[in-house]
Amino acid sequence: MKYAIRPLEEGDINDIVSGETRIFGYSLGYDMIYAELKINPYAHYFVLEIDGGFGGYIGLWIYEESAEIINFFVAEEYQGLGFGKLLMEFVIELCESVNVKTISLEVRKDNQKAINLYYKLGFTYSHERKKYYNDSTDALVLIKHLR
Ligand SMILES: CC(C)(COP(=O)(O)OP(=O)(O)OC[C@H]1O[C@@H](n2cnc3c(N)ncnc32)[C@H](O)[C@@H]1OP(=O)(O)O)[C@@H](O)C(=O)NCCC(=O)NCCS
Repeated sequence: MKYAIRPLEEGDINDIVSGETRIFGYSLGYDMIYAELKINPYAHYFVLEIDGGFGGYIGLWIYEESAEIINFFVAEEYQGLGFGKLLMEFVIELCESVNVKTISLEVRKDNQKAINLYYKLGFTYSHERKKYYNDSTDALVLIKHLR
């Protein structure tokens, strides 16, 4: 299996929208992702390419010493193979290289898979946002402090 992590391109947006809709039941939407790519100077989006096809993506905002993960998924057929960890480690290294001090993210309280991954990578619990998602599920806010 050949894989690469590369910056998002306009041609990836449809894959992201359909992947998000399948996996989360909703998407950030074409226009928002397009704006992130073209006009948001703080946005950094990366695509995981596997065997020349779309395998997932991760998007974050970096503003001075803070970063926030905006969205992140691995396509269903490639989950559980280490790619989620790879994408997260990639953005953690990127943040370290530009002197980010804290990375934060929100995760559904019932998303044990993702929570396991984040804890494994050194994120810790910060606080909860009650009924944050459309279906009233709470969000956990997790933070990782970098050196
Ligand atoms: C969460 C997600 C990104 C993880 O990516 P992945 O490629 O499947 O995960 P990896 O194979 O890299 O596994 C990394 C760690 O995640 C956790 N994990 C992965 N699959 C798991 C499972 N089925 N059950 C419990 N924990 C699991 C484990 O801690 C694992 O480490 P380990 O293999 O050493 O035990 C991916 O499953 C996904 O896209 N899920 C749907 C979208 C989503 O939830 N995105 C995050 C939104 S906050």
